[in-house]
Amino acid sequence: MNLIVLGPPGAGKGTQARRIQERWGIIQLSTGEILREAVDAGEEVGLRAGPVLEAGDLVPDEIVILVVAERLEKPDCQNGFILDGFPRTPAQAQALDELLKNRKLMIDAVIQIVVDDSAIVERIAGRYACSKCGAGYHEKYNKPKVDGVCDNCGSDSFERRVDDKQETVKSRLANYRRATEPILPYYSERGVLFEVNGMRGIDDVTAEIDKILVRLQ
Ligand code: AP5
Repeated sequence: MNLIVLGPPGAGKGTQARRIQERWGIIQLSTGEILREAVDAGEEVGLRAGPVLEAGDLVPDEIVILVVAERLEKPDCQNGFILDGFPRTPAQAQALDELLKNRKLMIDAVIQIVVDDSAIVERIAGRYACSKCGAGYHEKYNKPKVDGVCDNCGSDSFERRVDDKQETVKSRLANYRRATEPILPYYSERGVLFEVNGMRGIDDVTAEIDKILVRLQ
């Protein structure tokens, strides 16, 4: 299965995409994570994307499209993939069509996680991740089982994202409304858009997504 997960910042895209990866054995490709790794590694792409990420703006289409095109070539995409946070503009959606056409692939479902604006700031303000393995947590909604210890790798070191400041979140949300929401009808017209209520608990959202994926099998 080839999936897209879309939604505003803090909607739970990464949380749910990681769960789909575990449950369905298809790889999560988060453009945000790929770009942050490129920044940390000091790669050329990272040098260009770093200041854009920090400001909460959208990285230019040509950079993100190239990153996705290269990532789709890797063998771990053979069993299917979850595009987490891509496409985010009409130009990216068109480029994705071309990339898939050339590989004789198609998108089976676009999962749109719908949340109220009021939840976004709280979710992002409480978010943190393991510095070693990247597992994501929330101070209130998704704590590690043992306080201060990562469930996944046992590390006791955690970090927050540089773009998780209140003013940056506003800019990221505005970008979502302006550039990303307009591509939703594009997928709706093809009958592959599925809306999921992201205001429910994490497990409930996962269950709703699972139901959709079972139907698509
Ligand atoms: P990206 O990393 O994709 O950030 P984002 O879209 O702003 O989304 P987030 O990662 O903030 O949130 P999420 O929806 O994954 O929520 P999460 O699961 O963490 O992109 C970052 C930047 O990279 C962009 O601003 C841009 O600069 C650049 N970029 C990336 N892709 C690009 C593209 N295609 N084009 C151009 N630029 C691009 O959940 C948030 C918190 O809430 C967590 O703590 C979680 O535990 C908690 N939580 C999750 N679900 C629930 C729930 N149901 N109830 C309660 N708490 C919940």
